[in-house]
Amino acid sequence: MTTLHPDLGTACAKTAVRLAAQGLTAGYDQRTVLSELNLRIPDGSFTVIIGPNACGKSTLLRSLARLIRPSAGEVLLDGSAITSLPTKQLARAVGLLPQSSVAPEGITVTDLVSRGRHPHQSLLKRWGREDEAAVRQALEVTGTAELATRSVDELSGGQRQRTWIAMALAQQTPILLLDEPTTYLDIAHQIEVLELCTQLQRQGRTLVAVLHDLNQALRYATHLVAMRSGEIIAQGTPEQIGTAELVQEVFGVAARVIDDPETGRPLVIPRAPAPD
Ligand SMILES: Nc1ncnc2c1ncn2[C@@H]1O[C@H](COP(=O)(O)OP(=O)(O)OP(=O)(O)O)[C@@H](O)[C@H]1O
Ligand SMILES: [Mg+2]
Repeated sequence: MTTLHPDLGTACAKTAVRLAAQGLTAGYDQRTVLSELNLRIPDGSFTVIIGPNACGKSTLLRSLARLIRPSAGEVLLDGSAITSLPTKQLARAVGLLPQSSVAPEGITVTDLVSRGRHPHQSLLKRWGREDEAAVRQALEVTGTAELATRSVDELSGGQRQRTWIAMALAQQTPILLLDEPTTYLDIAHQIEVLELCTQLQRQGRTLVAVLHDLNQALRYATHLVAMRSGEIIAQGTPEQIGTAELVQEVFGVAARVIDDPETGRPLVIPRAPAPD
């Protein structure tokens, strides 16, 4: 099955790559989740990672953001192992929206989003107009400006999720990692967030998102990475790898793949069980 071969990733081997994992082995205590994983995130791409629950998607994203140290191999940013980079330098380059986060008790939306500016501050460079503008813009594009003075722990799940996205955006990093950014969001807000990702990507940023909705992944990704059991099973454009074989191989689900009438991209339709 040539379409499932990880070598499809070599299609982007010539593309510039700032962020990559090389022979990455990582996990928790005794549990190895990722084993000798190789991944190159094409610069300027909207890379979407798909895969079943517990296959290691969050572990991969957390490793790319240095929240987890590899037990072997490395994550490279501009050719240097991220373990060797000063924390603020890394935080100015790579932002992460974790899958779940707990806000400090009583913190307001503005204060939480403002925390995204920490990597840009130092003893010499205090809070300034640039920071103010970045926070305002992040609040506006995520539709959280009207919540600015509200306490984060009093928000609905969707409002809270958009506040965390705003915080990640305020960091204004060229590379943004988003772990299930559409969780808790209604369909309108899901589309808004995905369109925002596309807009940021077109402005030159590199986005990596974990998504569970296959059809959204196929519609929005410029580069798709499919994982199973801590391994990358396939990567390439949605047109290259978005096949019924892939859905079967990765999720064990029988499906038809047709052309999305809106976009022409692959559209996955799970097969109905045969009637009794
Ligand atoms: N903090 C932790 N300590 C120990 N094991 C963990 C920890 N976090 C995750 N794991 C384990 O690592 C494996 C991969 O988890 P991970 O969170 O990366 O999966 P995932 O692909 O993001 O799943 P999901 O789609 O459910 O978010 C799972 O078996 C999980 O139980
Ligand atoms: Mg996860």
